[in-house]
Amino acid sequence: MRLTVRSGRVDQGQGGVPVFAAFEGDRQPERLLPASSARDQTLRRLLAGAGFRGAANETAFLPRGRQWILVVGLGKAKHLSLDAVRRFAGTAARTIRARGQHALQLPVLNERGLGSSAVVAQALVEGALLGLYRYDRLREVPAHERNRRIDAMTLVVERTGDVAAAKRAIQKGEVLAEAVALARDLINGPSNLVTPTYLANQARAIAKQHRLTCTVIPFAQLKRLGFGGIVGVAQGSAHPAQFIVLDYRPSRAKTTFALCGKGITFDSGGISIKPSAKMEQMKYDMSGAAAVLGTMQAAARLKLPVRVVGIIAATENLPSGTAQKPGDVLKTLSGKTVEVINTDAEGRLVLADCLHYAKRYKPDCVVDVATLTGACVVALGAEAIGLLTKDERLAARLNQAGKTTHERVWRLPLWDEYRDMIKSDIADIKNVSDTGQAGTIIAGKFLETFADGLPWAHLDIAGTAWTEKDKPYIPRGAVGIGVRLLIELMERWT
Ligand code: BES
Ligand code: MN
Ligand code: ZN
Repeated sequence: MRLTVRSGRVDQGQGGVPVFAAFEGDRQPERLLPASSARDQTLRRLLAGAGFRGAANETAFLPRGRQWILVVGLGKAKHLSLDAVRRFAGTAARTIRARGQHALQLPVLNERGLGSSAVVAQALVEGALLGLYRYDRLREVPAHERNRRIDAMTLVVERTGDVAAAKRAIQKGEVLAEAVALARDLINGPSNLVTPTYLANQARAIAKQHRLTCTVIPFAQLKRLGFGGIVGVAQGSAHPAQFIVLDYRPSRAKTTFALCGKGITFDSGGISIKPSAKMEQMKYDMSGAAAVLGTMQAAARLKLPVRVVGIIAATENLPSGTAQKPGDVLKTLSGKTVEVINTDAEGRLVLADCLHYAKRYKPDCVVDVATLTGACVVALGAEAIGLLTKDERLAARLNQAGKTTHERVWRLPLWDEYRDMIKSDIADIKNVSDTGQAGTIIAGKFLETFADGLPWAHLDIAGTAWTEKDKPYIPRGAVGIGVRLLIELMERWT
């Protein structure tokens, strides 16, 4: 898609369907943006006729002369936010595509409290590109759908002086949206396509394209090197596990981030097998790994001045004659032993090795990202990522990054009293508690044992990585959550 910026107004000149924003009023829109008294009167009459009020994501696609215009509701003015801007752009782009048009012009809203025109322009690009995302790799797209495609989008700023900054901002928005799309493609891809080897090849491709270094340790080596957590999970699968390390290391870097991703390409539960209802969704159990891969790509393309090491454990969790069994004890890379009470609590086993491996980089910050617990879905649903950390500064930074990106985090306690629930009689620790209480926290306490001494935070994305309902800039399926959050965290670090 061609992305351009110009100054002026959306309804002047060429460039595709002009889009207006409307603030919600009781019976008709309270206000239209960009404001123009000359246009407002006729437009208002048309909108009133259509019963349009300006509610969030409400649309009116209206003829004007031989052209069309689109009005999209922003909701109440007092609720305006940067995320409302993303949703506005997503709704606009999708509506215009569905109407068979190929180009649109979006106004870079200049409202108090939203931020600079660059910030707004970036949000518009994110919303539009993410909203237009589709996963079409495995089906023949019918001709009428194939023609529904947006070729060009123009952002229109009010002041000429804002054009240059907006141009840089749309590049950034595009890089982020493409990184999120990469993550979504990997997550939407079924487990017979997106195998551990496929993830490793994807990492190699990113490394080659953006000059990162990529090291992959295959299953046979993992056994020899003592990666007992990953090996225990992987030994039931016919697809060999892959331990993937991507290193983005610009010469001026003074800060090192380690990002660990859970890459279970399919989680059947193993011998502690899951019920069959919705088991097909467990292809998304590699969403943490996808977030790390997307973040690595974006960090390199944005030339962040920090070192970022992505560490991914990729494997399936399947039952078989060679699978680990409840009661087995494995020895992790750290040397600590784990009694595997439930083979379905596999994410923490592979992450234990990732976190221990991260120590060799002496990172200033370690964040692991994982679809770790069903309990997190119960506790926080689809709106918040579970955050577990004892590091107050890191918690505050992640919280701020969450607000900015709308990939919001919500903290749960990591109090030491919880640790007693995973004491084992025969090993250093067991992988689940007997009570089933506080499942997300218990998983966090387990990981903390292996992150000892690191400035570390755990993000549980089990509830936020997948959506069954369409949202303005998140079509149903993979969300691609985590990429924008982690980039924002690293950008704002200093
Ligand atoms: N991948 C699952 C967690 C999950 C559940 C993610 C639902 C997304 C949606 C994880 O490996 C798992 O199975 N966790 C168990 C842990 C339990 C055995 C302590 C769970 O949550 O049931
Ligand atoms: Mn599991
Ligand atoms: Zn899992």
